[in-house]
Amino acid sequence: MQNKKIKLTFLTAHLSELTELDQELIAKAKEAFTTAYAPYSGFLVGASVLLDNGEIVSGSNQENVAYPSGLCAERVAMFYAGARFPDAKIKSIAVSVISKNFEVTDVVSPCGACRQVMAEYEEKQEQAIKVILHSPTDEVLIANTVEDLLPFMFKSPLLKKH
Ligand code: THU
Repeated sequence: MQNKKIKLTFLTAHLSELTELDQELIAKAKEAFTTAYAPYSGFLVGASVLLDNGEIVSGSNQENVAYPSGLCAERVAMFYAGARFPDAKIKSIAVSVISKNFEVTDVVSPCGACRQVMAEYEEKQEQAIKVILHSPTDEVLIANTVEDLLPFMFKSPLLKKH
């Protein structure tokens, strides 16, 4: 039996310390959460995806009375980007949040399903995706690759017979 450890790397910063481009992407994510349809949770999430063709594609969470039918902001943005610009690579994704019901002080942390989707795009494009998580207090957490957010991720080669 062996005890093993995984090392994850991430950065924390204040919004003002980020590059102009990263700050712009966060501003777009903040703009996007205003379009959330979240009557059940009151939790408004915006996600903006920067592509290598310079386009920025945004999405927000879309809820449904049949709760599992709704979709998180990150997947709305990434699927929209994939559908509109199928050949473009995702350089980074910024996520921002606000709640109608309470004060959010932490960065929003993407759910497992959204991390899985990010991971697959990263694998498909053979290029790391920078994930930028933003809080309403302007604290930011940055992971330079989805690998740091989803260790032991399920990858498509695992589907193939050896
Ligand atoms: N949500 C997102 O859109 N992204 C996240 O990273 C976390 C959760 C949404 C799903 C649901 O509409 C609401 O926030 C409450 O879970």
